Amino acid sequence: MSQQVIFTENPGGVVDTLISDMNPAGVCIIADSNTAHCVLPRLREESAKLKDAPVIEFPAGDGNKILSTLASVWEAMESNKLTRRSLIVNAGGGVVTDLGGFAAATFKRGLRFVNLPTTLLSAVDAAVGGKTGINFNGLKNEIGVFKEADAVVVSTRYFSTLPSVELLSGYGEVIKHALIDSSENLLRVLDYDISGNDLSALQNILCDSVEVKRRIVKVDPYEKGLRKSLNLGHTVAHAIEAQAMRNGVAVPAHGVAVVWGLIVDMVLSHMLLGLDSKWLHAVARYVRIHYPAMSVTCSDYTSLIELMRHDKKNTDTSSINFTLLEAPGKVVPDCIVSPDDIRTALDITRDLLGV
Ligand code: GLY
Repeated sequence: MSQQVIFTENPGGVVDTLISDMNPAGVCIIADSNTAHCVLPRLREESAKLKDAPVIEFPAGDGNKILSTLASVWEAMESNKLTRRSLIVNAGGGVVTDLGGFAAATFKRGLRFVNLPTTLLSAVDAAVGGKTGINFNGLKNEIGVFKEADAVVVSTRYFSTLPSVELLSGYGEVIKHALIDSSENLLRVLDYDISGNDLSALQNILCDSVEVKRRIVKVDPYEKGLRKSLNLGHTVAHAIEAQAMRNGVAVPAHGVAVVWGLIVDMVLSHMLLGLDSKWLHAVARYVRIHYPAMSVTCSDYTSLIELMRHDKKNTDTSSINFTLLEAPGKVVPDCIVSPDDIRTALDITRDLLGV
C-alpha cells in the first residue's frame, strides 16, 4: 500500500477527519520551538481534535536532532501516558518529522503518526517515504528506522512565511524529482519562477513532485534498488555539507547543496553516459539565476573526494558511488566514478555556475 498524502488549504479540518477515522486513544503533537509558536496556534484554532492536545516541544535546528532530544521526547510521551493506541501529529520541518517519526516508531514498539510538514523541503522529501531518525556521533541520520507516517498532510499555506533560501532548498529536491521523472516534468519545473512566490502555481508542481517520490518508495521502500535514484545529487551535496560543518561554516541549506550536486552529477552523466548537454545547460542556467553561488574552490577537491569515499552508499572506501542519468527519466544507480573525473566535473560545474 502506498502512503496517503493529502494536499489541502485546510490542514486543521483534514487532520480532524483523519483523527476521527483513526479513532486513537489520545493525540499528542510534536513540534519544535519555531512551529510551536508560528504554526500551532492557528492549527489548534482550526482543529477541534488538536485544540487541547498536549504538545511536546524541543528546540529548533538540525543540531538538536540528537539522542538527548529524542530521550526528552520519549520522556514526555511517557509522562503524557501515551499508549500504542495513541496518535502523534508531527508539525514541522524535516527535523521534526525525522525525530518525531522515530520517536513514534520506537515508543512502546511503535504508535501511529501523521506528518504535517511546514517547509517545502520536508513536504517534498523528509515527511514522505518513511525515513526517520536522528544524527549520532557527528554523522547525519546515523540511527533510524524506515516507518511511513500513516498520512502526510501538505499545505502550501506554511510556505508563505519561509525565508527564500528555504524555498530554494525545497525546490532543489523538486528539480531532483523532475530529473528522475521525465523531460516534460523537468521543463515544467524549470519554467516556474521559484523567486516569484506564486504558491498556487507551486501547488501543482509540488503534487507531481511528491508523486514521483511516492511511486519510487512504493516499489522500493527499503532502498534496495530503485529508491537509490533519489540519491541523485547527494554524493556531492553530503560531501559539501560535511566539509562546511568541519570548517565551522554552514551551506545556505541542504537543498542548495543538492542543486550544486545535481549539476556535478549532470556533468558526470554527460561525460560518462552521454546525457545531452542541453539538459545540463538548462538546469545550470536555472541554478545560476536563482541559487547562491557554489561555495567550492579547487583547494577543496581533495577533501571533498575523501568525504565522498566515506559516503554510506559505497561498499568500500576504494570506490566512489554515484547515481547518474542517461537522460531525464533514465537514472543509472551505482556508477563508480574516478577521482580524476570528479575533479573535472567540479571544474566544469564551477565554470557553468560562474564561480
Ligand atoms: N531522501 C531520499 C529518500 O527518502 O530516499
